[in-house]
Amino acid sequence: MKKINKLSLTICLVCLLVSSQLFSEKLILSPKQILDVNTGELYQSQILVEEKIIIKIDKDLSKKHRDIKLVNLPELTLIPGLMDSHVHLIGNAKLKGYESIGESSYLSTIYGVDNAKKTLLAGFTTVRNVGAGNYADVALKQAIDRNLVLGPTMIVSGPALGITGGHCDSNILPYDYDHKSQGVADGPWEVRKMVRKNRKYGANLIKFCATGGVMSKNTNVNNKQYTLEEMQAIVDEAHSLGMKVAAHAHGLEGIKTAIIAGVDSIEHASYIDDETIELAKQKGTYLSMDVYVSDFILGEGKDQGILEESLQKERVVGKVQRQNFQKSVKANAKISFGTDAGIYPHGRNAIQFKYMVEWGMTPLQAIQASTVNTAELFGLANIGNINEGFEADIIGIKGNPLEDITVLEDVTFVMKDGVIFKQ
Ligand code: ARG
Repeated sequence: MKKINKLSLTICLVCLLVSSQLFSEKLILSPKQILDVNTGELYQSQILVEEKIIIKIDKDLSKKHRDIKLVNLPELTLIPGLMDSHVHLIGNAKLKGYESIGESSYLSTIYGVDNAKKTLLAGFTTVRNVGAGNYADVALKQAIDRNLVLGPTMIVSGPALGITGGHCDSNILPYDYDHKSQGVADGPWEVRKMVRKNRKYGANLIKFCATGGVMSKNTNVNNKQYTLEEMQAIVDEAHSLGMKVAAHAHGLEGIKTAIIAGVDSIEHASYIDDETIELAKQKGTYLSMDVYVSDFILGEGKDQGILEESLQKERVVGKVQRQNFQKSVKANAKISFGTDAGIYPHGRNAIQFKYMVEWGMTPLQAIQASTVNTAELFGLANIGNINEGFEADIIGIKGNPLEDITVLEDVTFVMKDGVIFKQ
């Protein structure tokens, strides 16, 4: 009973906030402390927010500006809004394998609304959605930007590009159904055309599959998908149009070829070796390694309808990926925070922090991965830290995340674009 009351109160609060405060008013935040994620310094100060921007950071703002609304957060440590470079907001996260093809894209999009809200309220203020049919991700982004629904700032890819029969195709139905995924394109000119099409319908990012995957039927994670020529065509076209490129790649050949082709990030990067880590560093390629999700797939995947074939692959890939994550951290590679939320329930993105720490990062490095690093990967210069002139994407937690990274799993204050969504 108590739980229900608390839940309805929270929902009510959120509703109220949505209806009454979707414009950014002038506010002074007065927390216990602020974390500078560049240096790891915790300091005491107040933050003046106006018109979506952090205008001033100073100790005595509330004394100097008694007319401005003061938001007292005496227990909270404020850090910049978190970012996730690999989510799938569209769809019902519970439907896996054969179940996943029975749902219309309309319903998937409505699920997306709920997923977006959970993501934002968990403290993730900017995310990259890597792959969605029917440009449902574009629609969700537009609805969030217009304040119709609650959600993080989204970077969206539309349908992910992939070879016929590859990880980004759908191989679940037999020939009789003549079914393929919307991003399937083979050959340099077809892929260029698909990039142009995605851009036309609102994508501001390109995702493609450079190897087989875990969750797809009849693909091998170690097989390269696309030739160097095709990958170069994708990257050239996307970059010409001002879009970054994210390449799904587990196997080494695919990872290497995608890096040579000039992609901006490798998603998963499971079988990356020392030499290729160096290559990624040289080329400035980010690694977006989802080091938590394996535990979910192997723990709850079977009940959720994940194919036995996928479970088999995961039993091998998960471990290798974590070991290579550790190597990449040691080698000082560029690492963003990408989770693959959507395989597991949205809003639980922050669970990955503790895995990143367990596999070699300091808590500060893990926080940097999800803030400054991911902001750099996204090409956004004015988010990722609490700085004057930056966008007011700020979250608050109880406790010190440098001492206990798991406090990030329970975010109690969320501000996006200067608007408080959770308090
Ligand atoms: N979307 C990815 C794939 O199907 C998920 C991989 C999950 N496993 C992992 N160890 N990261 O390939």
